[in-house]
This record gives sequence, structure tokens and C-alpha cells, in this order.
Amino acid sequence: MAEFWKDCAPLQEELIAIRRALHRIPELGEHLPETQAYIMETLARWGIPHHPAKRDSAVVGEFSGGKPGKTILLRADVDALPITEETGLPFASRHKGIMHACGHDGHGTMLLGALKVLFDHRAELCGNVRFLFQTSEESGNGAQNAIAEGILDRVDGVFGCHIGSILGPTIPSGTIVATEGCCMAAADRFVITVRGKGCHGSTPEKGIDPVSVAAHIVIALQELISREVAAPQAAVVTVGRITGGNAYNVIPDTVELEGTVRAIDKGVRDYVVERIPQIAAGEAALFRAQAETQIFPFAAPVISDAPSAELVARAAERVVGKEHVMTRLPAPNMGAEDFAYYLEQRPGCYFFVSAANPEKGTCVPHHNARFDIDEDVLWKGSAVFVELTREFLLS
Ligand code: NI
Repeated sequence: MAEFWKDCAPLQEELIAIRRALHRIPELGEHLPETQAYIMETLARWGIPHHPAKRDSAVVGEFSGGKPGKTILLRADVDALPITEETGLPFASRHKGIMHACGHDGHGTMLLGALKVLFDHRAELCGNVRFLFQTSEESGNGAQNAIAEGILDRVDGVFGCHIGSILGPTIPSGTIVATEGCCMAAADRFVITVRGKGCHGSTPEKGIDPVSVAAHIVIALQELISREVAAPQAAVVTVGRITGGNAYNVIPDTVELEGTVRAIDKGVRDYVVERIPQIAAGEAALFRAQAETQIFPFAAPVISDAPSAELVARAAERVVGKEHVMTRLPAPNMGAEDFAYYLEQRPGCYFFVSAANPEKGTCVPHHNARFDIDEDVLWKGSAVFVELTREFLLS
């Protein structure tokens, strides 16, 4: 039976239990011991070969089909966020101040479900299924760790997805979105240290006020977007943190600004990242201060190639029906994903599984303390993984 993706639907109750179990134990960054143990226990229960990664708490594994062929990599990120959950759900986080507020509990669940079905039907596959439960997507080392350990060796294509309301609350739950080209932005973090000269607040002429300079820099950075980046090119500069000073009437020596850059186009990304230190230094010089900028690259744009995106869309159409598949987005999402690192090196597709259901209150934005997903979509995500894998390993 080639339509073994249909075996995912009867798993739904079990998938909900898995998702809730993962939801209770959210962990941060590269060290996810409870999550790792839970995933390994589940794989072991199903007899699926796997092992822990060396550099972090990732779980990897591979099994072969009945005939030789290509190797596909399926990836789910399973880390959480430093947010205190306010959903009031019976299976809410047991870890204080940490929450699965981006749906990565759903990612782990959907991949587990897919692996169970693929492993049961491995004799019908041509090639190898490799899988990765990745750490630290939110803080940005997970993909690089996995690549450094050789996760892409001999891999012909890589596939992953995001669940939730990430593309907006208006895309109905159960919709699969697989688009060719860029679907998520490049992201970089920057830290600007403004050095002035501290003095009493009553005599600013005796010092150099880095607070005032920092304010000028924040405003000037927006001119970069409005005056130097072409209007049709999507780019964002956000300063999310300003730190400096300890007393209301004292001018401090330094102020630190921290923010993020998002861009769809690589050239625009490079341009903005190059201009931030120039603008900061120029504004600072204007007012006799100094500004030093550090740039921390997070990820390139997430770019799916056309054949891989078409393959996912075809698989999704068989699972959820053509009317529930979108192959075009009005605009890319300005969020970022370290899945970009895999797609820089291998063909593949990053797709979306909408879980935004107004009746269930799951349209809350990601990274929000009341974020939740419509669990009805879990088996569908698994089934899309199964079906795209089957087709990929045929061709
Ligand atoms: Ni996420």
C-alpha cells in the first residue's frame, strides 16, 4: 500500500499525548536533557534506531528502506523559550519561566509520528531516512552543531516545517504552505556600545552624554530603512534593548543598544549590516562620543528550491486536499530560522502547518505567554512528512 501516510490519522490520540508530554517539559538552548530522554524513550519503544548527538542534546538516527536509493533528512527543532506560560492548560509547563511558546513541542511530535509510520513501512522505501531532533533553534547554535557533527553527509534533500499561526491568524488550521524561494528572512543581532563621559546630570557640559547619543542612533537607524533600502525590499532594524545609567541625575559613561536586522535579500542584508556600524559611529562622532558595533550573524534567508517545494505541495495535496494547500505567500515571514543553514548546503523545503483556529483560541502570536496550537493538525503534519519522504525516495 503506497498510501501509508494514512496510518498517521489513527496515531492522533498518541500524538496528542506526546505533544502534551513535551509541552510539560520545555527546555532552553542546547541542553535539553528531559526532552532528549523523552524522544529517545519514544523511539526506543518503537524500535527506531537512534543515538544522542555529541555536542548538544540533539537526537539523530537513520534507517534504510527495502531498496537502496537517496538519503533524506527530516528535521524538527525541539527547544523552548524563556517565557512564563499563561495558558492555564492542564498540561502547561512544569518548568518555571520556560515555555513551548513557538510550537516546537508540535514539531517533535509530528516528526515522531512520521518516523513511526515510515519505520513500519521501511521495506517499501527506496533509500535512507535520516532524522534530527535539533536543539537551540531559538538561540541559534543547533543547526551548526548538527552540521559540524556531519548531519548533512550523504544527504540529498532536507525537509522541515513550522507549526502554528506563524504566517498569520487568517490561514485556516490544517493548511499546508509550501512555497518556492524565500519563506523566512535572514537575521542578525547587533550590539552597539556608546562610550561618552559620565558626570553629574546638572552639568552635562562637563561630560559627554551617551544616553542622548544612543537616542540619536536609534532614530538614525530607521533612516537606513526608509531612505537607503528600496521600498519593495523588505528589511527591518529593531533596537529591542537599551541599557545604561543607574541614577536619574547621573550621566553614565556608556550605554548599550542591542537589536536585530531582518532582510529577505542577501544583498540588502549585507548592506544594512555594513551600514549599522557606520551610522552608529557617525552619530557618536557628531556628539563627541564613540560607538563600537558588534554583529552576530543568526541565519541566512530560508530558501526552498522549486522541485522540493513542489514535492511538498504534491504530498500535502494528497494528505489534506488541494484546497488546503498554499504554494504562494503574499510576503515572506520576517522571522528567521536556522533551517537556512541546511538549505544553504542541500536542496530542500521548509514548509508551514497552520494551527491557527479562532474557535480554539490558537491564533495568539508565537513567543506569547498564551500561545497554543490546534492539536488536530498533528497527524496531518506527520502524514505530510511521510508522503513527501515516500515520493522523495522514489525519484
Ligand atoms: Ni519556532
